[in-house]
Amino acid sequence: MPPAPTLVKGMRDLLPPETHWFQAVEAAARELFARYGYREIRTPILERTELFARTVGEETDIVGKEMYSFLDRDQTSLTLRPEATAAVARAYVEHRLWEQPGWTRLYYLGPMFRRERPQQGRYRQFSQIGAELLGGDAPQMDAEMLVMLARLLDRLGLSGWTLSLNSLGCAEDRPRFERALREALLPIAPRLCGDCRRRAETNPLRVLDCKRPEDQPLIAQLPTTLDLLDPPCREHFEQVKQLLERAGVPYQLQPRLVRGLDYYTRTAFEFVHGALGAQNALLGGGRYDLLAERLGAPKGAGAGIGFALGEDRLVSAWRAGLAPSDPPPAAEIYLAPLGEAALAPALELAEQLRQAGLSVAAGDARWSAKKHLSTASRQAARWAVLIGEQEIQARQATVKTLANGEQSAVAWPQLAEFFATASGAARA
Ligand code: HAM
Repeated sequence: MPPAPTLVKGMRDLLPPETHWFQAVEAAARELFARYGYREIRTPILERTELFARTVGEETDIVGKEMYSFLDRDQTSLTLRPEATAAVARAYVEHRLWEQPGWTRLYYLGPMFRRERPQQGRYRQFSQIGAELLGGDAPQMDAEMLVMLARLLDRLGLSGWTLSLNSLGCAEDRPRFERALREALLPIAPRLCGDCRRRAETNPLRVLDCKRPEDQPLIAQLPTTLDLLDPPCREHFEQVKQLLERAGVPYQLQPRLVRGLDYYTRTAFEFVHGALGAQNALLGGGRYDLLAERLGAPKGAGAGIGFALGEDRLVSAWRAGLAPSDPPPAAEIYLAPLGEAALAPALELAEQLRQAGLSVAAGDARWSAKKHLSTASRQAARWAVLIGEQEIQARQATVKTLANGEQSAVAWPQLAEFFATASGAARA
């Protein structure tokens, strides 16, 4: 027999109770986004390859070597989305969302796909939680997004983050940056890595993003975008920084932060966290004043700013940092029908308890009381409810509190109330 199929490299199964932490992060994010007026958008997982090539950029690692692309039966090239901003911008244009009054505030959650070299914190399928604020270029928007992010991390109790902040300048600045960088790169490029040498020609800004330790002393000599901002961009950045200071959100200027996607203009940022090791970027984002316009939005209506947070990394930092409490058990109540005759009344009782809002999971009616009790404690249930012949006769249940072994007989009609009171007492 051929070996059984296993997980695809770089992908992972998220099992319970791990999924509990993902749900908790998602619930906190949804609730917080709603407070800032963001609503959910769901775009498809498949997009035309061209969308990412034209927005994220042909020269980026993502488009150049990490996309899962294939030809559909009609020969259209499709790609599993490596990120969602391009898709949100496409939807913004396609559904003319700019016609709605005011700025458009959207958030999304879901899987992204990049064929990277897998390691801790880096997967080929990973989950992002992101938001996009479209329809203007006010510095106030940048600050809103960054304050919201700081609040989200604080709310999750995730202390120890650092916000790295930079400005990449506007479209008019870009040719000047590129010229200055090309000039500065001319004498040093031959001593840089292959990727840098190629980028020095095609996309010099990305050279600043090189992670190779040997190249860093040379890269440190290159001019940065902050040195070359034009007055309006400088003023924009000043205002963003001032609004952050007013809101009490600390940041560190990081003049070499350029991000790995080409659509960014002006504000660019990352939140990093010490608990993450090599893949320390919890989230990244920035302003993209021309992205939606290049996809067909009217001039000025397509500007926006957004971020995406690596949910896998956030959960791992969260758990490393504080492990808020044990995840809840699959069900609070373990129901033990003792013998076939007890099965039907026990299942009826379980349904009543569920209707009263309790969580109940039953064991096999053929098991012994001993096996039931050990299963109940291994499943971390709070109570085991035993229903056997005697209990049926007396229309009672034997309830065992697993934490202390206490046992009591409770009449069927009083069961739901018994658990409600016991839960209340435990919480108080
Ligand atoms: P990004 O920096 O490519 O930006 O990804 C955002 C976050 O996704 C990263 O900071 C990281 O936490 C997580 N991430 C990226 N790749 C992986 C991976 N292979 N495994 C696990 N986590 C990963 C974007 O995607 C932009 N769309 C962000 C944005 C939104 N910019 C404006 N709006």
